[in-house]
Amino acid sequence: MRKTIIAGNWKMNKLAADADQFAEDVVGKLPNDDSVEAIVCAPFPFLSSLVKTADNSKLHISAQTMHFEENGAFTGEVSPAMLADLGVTHVVIGHSERREHFGETDETVNKKVHAAFAHNLTPIICVGETLEQRESNETNAHIDAQVRKALDGLQKDQIETAIIAYEPIWAIGTGKTASSDEANDVCAHIRHVVENMTDETVASQMVIQYGGSVKPANIDDLLGQSDIDGALVGGASLDPDSFLQMVEAGT
Ligand code: G3P
Repeated sequence: MRKTIIAGNWKMNKLAADADQFAEDVVGKLPNDDSVEAIVCAPFPFLSSLVKTADNSKLHISAQTMHFEENGAFTGEVSPAMLADLGVTHVVIGHSERREHFGETDETVNKKVHAAFAHNLTPIICVGETLEQRESNETNAHIDAQVRKALDGLQKDQIETAIIAYEPIWAIGTGKTASSDEANDVCAHIRHVVENMTDETVASQMVIQYGGSVKPANIDDLLGQSDIDGALVGGASLDPDSFLQMVEAGT
């Protein structure tokens, strides 16, 4: 049985005191239920303190990106070794905002996925189509290509533990959530692509999340779908109570 994984992507929000207060508010209130996993994806400056607050709790701490190089002349970048050294357990890779604003490509996503596994970090790999691609019936072909390039060269056991987040770009931050049927259709297609690349066992074990205007009011319907195993939530994850409600929905 797959876990349900609810991850809050804070993006470029909060200050240190608010980040620490969030973690203090949340860690003691997470459900004592191993069927659901809670992750906070926070900006780099907060990671060390969040890891310390979340220690010995059910809350996992994730970065929102990283470089794929081990070290060197990459001013401003953060290496996978630095994240692992902090005690971070996950890293978001290939978010559409990184692809749009910071030059992330399918090729760099693949390099980062390999680098994450090399440092025992679980990648949360983001894929998703534009509104134009959806309206042109290009969604499945686009997602197929992104998934295959992201996972290229990985071993089956690595693919099984990777997390894929399907985030239709037109639903991010817009309040326009994909219908649960639409979202499930694409998540099922992703699972089919993974099965084609590996086998039925790996595909059936892989966690596939949906992201794009998820909130407490719509998460039950999304999690009730056959191929949606969680959510990658932006705006609605910034509030501790809202985040806890969505984690509880995963139990
Ligand atoms: O990574 C999650 C994010 O892209 C979704 O944002 O605000 O639509 O939940 P939001």
